[in-house]
Amino acid sequence: MRLLHFVARLDKRLGLLEIDAGKDRFLAKLIRLVRKANTLSSESEGEVMDENAAFIERLVHVLSKRASRDLMYVVFTIVGHRGLSTYLTVIARGSSKDDVLKEAEVLGEVVGTLADGGIEVRDNERISSQLLVIPMRATGNDFVAELHQIEVEPRSYEPSPLISSSSRGANGIYLGHLLPGEGEEDSFSIPRDSIFRHIAIFGTTGSGKTTTAAVLSRGMVCKGITVFILDWHGEYGAKLRSIPKVVLEPAKGDYLDGLTIEELISKDPQGFVDILDASLDLTPAQSFILTRILEGYDQDKHGDVWNFLNDRLRRGSFSEAVWERESRLALYRKLRQLLALPSKRRKVEVSDEPLAIVIDLSSISNTRVRRTYTHLMIKLIAFYMQHGLWRRDTAIVVDEAHNVLNEEGPISLLISEVRKWRLGFVIVTQSPSFVTTNVMKNTNTKIIHAIKSSMDLTALSKSLFIPREIEERIPFLSPGQAVVAIAEHEWPFLVKIDATALEKPCREDG
Ligand SMILES: Nc1ncnc2c1ncn2[C@@H]1O[C@H](COP(=O)(O)OP(=O)(O)OP(=O)(O)O)[C@@H](O)[C@H]1O
Ligand SMILES: [Mg+2]
Repeated sequence: MRLLHFVARLDKRLGLLEIDAGKDRFLAKLIRLVRKANTLSSESEGEVMDENAAFIERLVHVLSKRASRDLMYVVFTIVGHRGLSTYLTVIARGSSKDDVLKEAEVLGEVVGTLADGGIEVRDNERISSQLLVIPMRATGNDFVAELHQIEVEPRSYEPSPLISSSSRGANGIYLGHLLPGEGEEDSFSIPRDSIFRHIAIFGTTGSGKTTTAAVLSRGMVCKGITVFILDWHGEYGAKLRSIPKVVLEPAKGDYLDGLTIEELISKDPQGFVDILDASLDLTPAQSFILTRILEGYDQDKHGDVWNFLNDRLRRGSFSEAVWERESRLALYRKLRQLLALPSKRRKVEVSDEPLAIVIDLSSISNTRVRRTYTHLMIKLIAFYMQHGLWRRDTAIVVDEAHNVLNEEGPISLLISEVRKWRLGFVIVTQSPSFVTTNVMKNTNTKIIHAIKSSMDLTALSKSLFIPREIEERIPFLSPGQAVVAIAEHEWPFLVKIDATALEKPCREDG
């Protein structure tokens, strides 16, 4: 007896299983047999079982006559936690998909006749991870069907129809290729618009997150999206070599032409106060004082708002009450390091062409200031988009996001609001358990590199469905390998992110 190697593949649309076993190709279709309610005069459980057994005996008898070398049938019952389900499987060798579907139709009629209308057939709606397939054991020239429970490999030997229709279009953002294949035909992209439904990139230290975010950023720019990168460690400037970019160092006083905090404060002072409130834990008295100072701010008259704030926070006024003075000075201490960032030394212009705008945060040494500055940048970009002052498809990449998005606050909430303005977020973090549930819920695409902590794995599986056999691989993925789960796709993809894309100009994506 020789066991054949076989590859099972599911055509989800038709509910057909394709099995490659050596030279032979089989098609299998599962049909579920369901007894209609109230078709037996008396419904004691024993009688139903007897009736079922009698029916199956008749069915097997009829099918054994119908069967041939190239047409086989298996009837089996699964004992599951919700009761028994009986399936009839037809397995055909060398037939076309149409033939098998027709055969399934005929079987429906056979079943109806044999059960006198008491049993109907249903397409098996969900063949999922726990797929029952029938490998073929060769005995001489004959094949014998055997029943096994196997797990379908998470890789696609042939891209599923979903990939070719929605993920591979010319407008897709190139990320790499499907495992285990190599070469052109396995290339993997995500739909351009999935950016605006937000993306999360997870993985333990060194698993490849930043590289993936860089490949994704390049791909976005190539597809006409302007990308802001909040570059916590200052790594992206060196990585993005093949696309137009500017690198800003806020600690050196770099600022973007046409995107200023003064504009935000003039139009939405409360929005600005809310951000500082959340990231610096202001007391109600401190927020009050900040709001009042900003009410006196006039962009044309005072110019640079940091200087203005510095001045007003230090000086106070004659009529000030004692509590006011104390709150003002406490507020000044909280803001001092932020205000100490040199402001407006170098103006950085951006062209109308899509580009990467890398904001190198690593030169801000104090982490609290770095975090507050990051919040302000996110708010600023969202504000400009919301008011139509920045009219481009835009994405914001937030690396080391656990430092930035770890509490419910105005920034976490923004993520659920901004999609209507065509602003997408790419959230990069090692710890899904550190970012807020709002962030988890609102990222439609998850790119998951190796994750080893069981706490993080649990946080992940709470927020999305990952089939067990794929989940089991997550701790063992090598750098650059990732499971990509897109909310609209039932099955995640196993992908190798193509770091060499970083060297290639956009035109090479095809
Ligand atoms: N797609 C890839 N292909 C090949 N090698 C990769 C890929 N991605 C990452 N690597 C390798 O893994 C190393 C770490 O990658 P990267 O800095 O992107 O990981 P990270 O998850 O961001 O790490 P950290 O937790 O330190 O931020 C890289 O220097 C590179 O050698
Ligand atoms: Mg990193």
